[in-house]
Amino acid sequence: MKTIHAYTLLALATIATTATAQFRIGSGDVSELYANNCAACHGANLEGGQASSLVDDTWIHGRTDSDLARIIREGIPDTTMVPWGTTLSKQKIRSLVIFIREKGQIVAREGLPQNTFLPEDGIFRTAEHAFTLEKVGQGEGILWALEFLPDDTILATQRNGTLWQFKDGQRSAIAGTPEVWQNGQGGLLEIQKHPDYANNGWIYLAYSENVGGTENDRPAGMTAVVRGRIRDGQWVDQEKIYNAPPHLHTSAGAHFGTRFVFQDGYLYFGIGDRGRQNQAQDLSRPNGKIHRIHDDGRVPADNPFLDTKDALPTIWSYGHRNPQGLDLHPETGDMWEVEHGPRGGDETNLIERGLNYGWPVITYGMNYNGTPITDLIEKEGMEQPKHYWVPSIAICGMDFYEGEKFPKWKNNLFVTGMASQELHRLVIKDGEVVSDEIVLKNQGRLRDVYSAPDGTLYILSENDNGTIYRLVPST
Ligand code: HEC
Repeated sequence: MKTIHAYTLLALATIATTATAQFRIGSGDVSELYANNCAACHGANLEGGQASSLVDDTWIHGRTDSDLARIIREGIPDTTMVPWGTTLSKQKIRSLVIFIREKGQIVAREGLPQNTFLPEDGIFRTAEHAFTLEKVGQGEGILWALEFLPDDTILATQRNGTLWQFKDGQRSAIAGTPEVWQNGQGGLLEIQKHPDYANNGWIYLAYSENVGGTENDRPAGMTAVVRGRIRDGQWVDQEKIYNAPPHLHTSAGAHFGTRFVFQDGYLYFGIGDRGRQNQAQDLSRPNGKIHRIHDDGRVPADNPFLDTKDALPTIWSYGHRNPQGLDLHPETGDMWEVEHGPRGGDETNLIERGLNYGWPVITYGMNYNGTPITDLIEKEGMEQPKHYWVPSIAICGMDFYEGEKFPKWKNNLFVTGMASQELHRLVIKDGEVVSDEIVLKNQGRLRDVYSAPDGTLYILSENDNGTIYRLVPST
């Protein structure tokens, strides 16, 4: 049972008298203010999501009304909690504090509003196919990525560093995986087997590492890639495939990327801008880029910036904010990417050698606190997205569907949304996105989607401590 603190009662007592007043301040009412500015990270019902819950009576940064007002006004350095004092008046910030107190009280009394988890008959009906959701497995935290092995084992990374193995209905943890730097959005991220796994047994992992680097005297980290093998429940034979020198690491807890694509013996992977947006344009920095290396970590002799002064040799394309999805079109082999944008700027791009995708010089989005980033949406020498979302869906992973169970979805691009809790189906024709359908909603924040070997689609949801579901055709 939650304790009701004196200050909360005080805040509640003042609601009656200030409620009318606060609705006159500024344009909209406070729930609109919250929905527009805060819900993307703290959840539509303040239940938490990308950022902490504001209704569980657990406070990391101070618990009094004036603490909350200060946090909202000044932000929290090196997190995505930016200062709102520049865009929201003192009165609006005060009304948000009261709103947080109100909701905290309601949740203490009644619990969180129920998530409408399934349609009444359990069948989701979409334009082309109907399906049901089946639970396949569950983690103990945010599940970030899945991989399917030929012996029907499913591997799942959990962001706090655990690598799970699901086999014959049993879950066990793989011992000996690399230590991860758990900071904000960092941790254990992507996993994929080598295309020739059947012969070489290699499995690749991406994670955020801190190897002693600092930035302005704070611990700093960057995305790293290793490969290893799994033998008798142990991670063994580890080899470092990619990491950036520690002096290029940043202390921010944001935007690590990362997904893998293997093509013709090369490994492609993206690293987000790591909270240092201008570095996405700086070729001497690893962040904000898509990289290309040989599958053993060597630098290919035909990478685009080998002759550019001070440029890092692994860079393939640049000007990216946070590439969180990467996959090859099953028919054309084109490389598609989705990028978690700022507010209003989630993008999908077609990635080509040496090109600049524009962040933060051009974008369709603005900062989370409503301040502008740039007035430019296009510029000579910078690529346009193939599709973008306003409002943002808080995009994460994606995959082209290549299975047989949903024939009309063949070669469609499935894209997950976190804050929006949506699964989108994009139809691509001749390199252009021609339609965008939401096929699933309100099933938790969705981290990733997979065209699975059994011909269905798997999704990773943050429901119930990280749940793996599959979409099964319904007759
Ligand atoms: C882009 C994401 C994002 C948005 C948008 C955002 N926050 Fe935050 N917020 C965070 C993060 C990250 C933290 C830090 C959580 C932590 O330290 O674990 C945080 C922390 C907080 C805290 C302190 C929580 C604690 O436990 O001490 C409060 C209060 C808060 N935010 C209120 C707001 C309000 C009100 C808004 C809207 C005006 C807002 N936030 C918008 C990301 C966000």
